Amino acid sequence: MIAVKAPTWEDEDVPRERQSLRPLVWAQHSVTLLAVQFESENANWLKKNTIITEYLENGTLSSLKRRLGGGYPRRKLPNRVLWAIFLCLVRGCVGLAYPPGSRTKLPRNPRDQLLETIPDGNRPPRELYHGDLHEANIMIGDFEPREHRSFPVLKFIDFGLSSENEDAVSGNIMDIGQVMCNLMWSESDISDLLIDKNSANILDPNLDDELLDWASQCIEDDPADRPGLSALLSAIRPNLRRTYPNIPEESDRFISELIQRNILDAE
Ligand SMILES: Nc1ncnc2c1ncn2[C@@H]1O[C@H](COP(=O)(O)OP(=O)(O)OP(=O)(O)O)[C@@H](O)[C@H]1O
Ligand SMILES: [Mg+2]
Repeated sequence: MIAVKAPTWEDEDVPRERQSLRPLVWAQHSVTLLAVQFESENANWLKKNTIITEYLENGTLSSLKRRLGGGYPRRKLPNRVLWAIFLCLVRGCVGLAYPPGSRTKLPRNPRDQLLETIPDGNRPPRELYHGDLHEANIMIGDFEPREHRSFPVLKFIDFGLSSENEDAVSGNIMDIGQVMCNLMWSESDISDLLIDKNSANILDPNLDDELLDWASQCIEDDPADRPGLSALLSAIRPNLRRTYPNIPEESDRFISELIQRNILDAE
């Protein structure tokens, strides 16, 4: 299956979206642009401004949140799922900064895509700011054996507001930090918690403090106080194997049922 995105009037941002997505065809955590066949000189305006991407059938983070429902306890996602989501979001940002793979060849199918990594040496990042990273623009893909055995891969979509600027990397980090905070708490709660971190334990004793701490650092007002991509990768990756033996909601069984019910079986 494929997804087709066409503009409805002339000043929409599809050309920019295609420009930003094209170098990301190998990146596992951004939606894959599939077709470029409409770009010939004599294609009509609509065809030139239409993009075709892989179809992601498991919905967005916001649809997941909707299915999980509101109310108490507020946090519906176990720490282990939150760590997996955090790692996907960081990988997504690494891909924007360092698009992986060949510039000349195209992957044959999404399974050929590469995990985004920070290259050795001094290669400067591509300064691509996504500009619209929120729950409705982050989609849920499939499981795969590398880093997505227990939770499926997440993919950035909707690059219509993307831009190149020198604050791109720290801007993307701020935006994923906000997504993480909003998955843990409602927006009003998080500001209270950041003022007095101890209250985190009163409201949600099972939330991993380290998770809250990294997410909070990402949304520091001063970009200089936010962690870099490399620090985030090194801090988050080991937590994919973390276990919380005394918390029933952190068990393999609870998590796989939660995913089955709210993602795979969801309408
Ligand atoms: N590749 C895809 N596979 C499946 N569904 C998709 C895909 N891309 C987008 N969607 C769905 O369509 C919605 C809108 O897509 P997108 O955000 O790219 O368009 P938009 O015109 O910028 O819309 P909006 O103004 O709502 O952000 C997404 O929230 C998602 O539910
Ligand atoms: Mg959108």
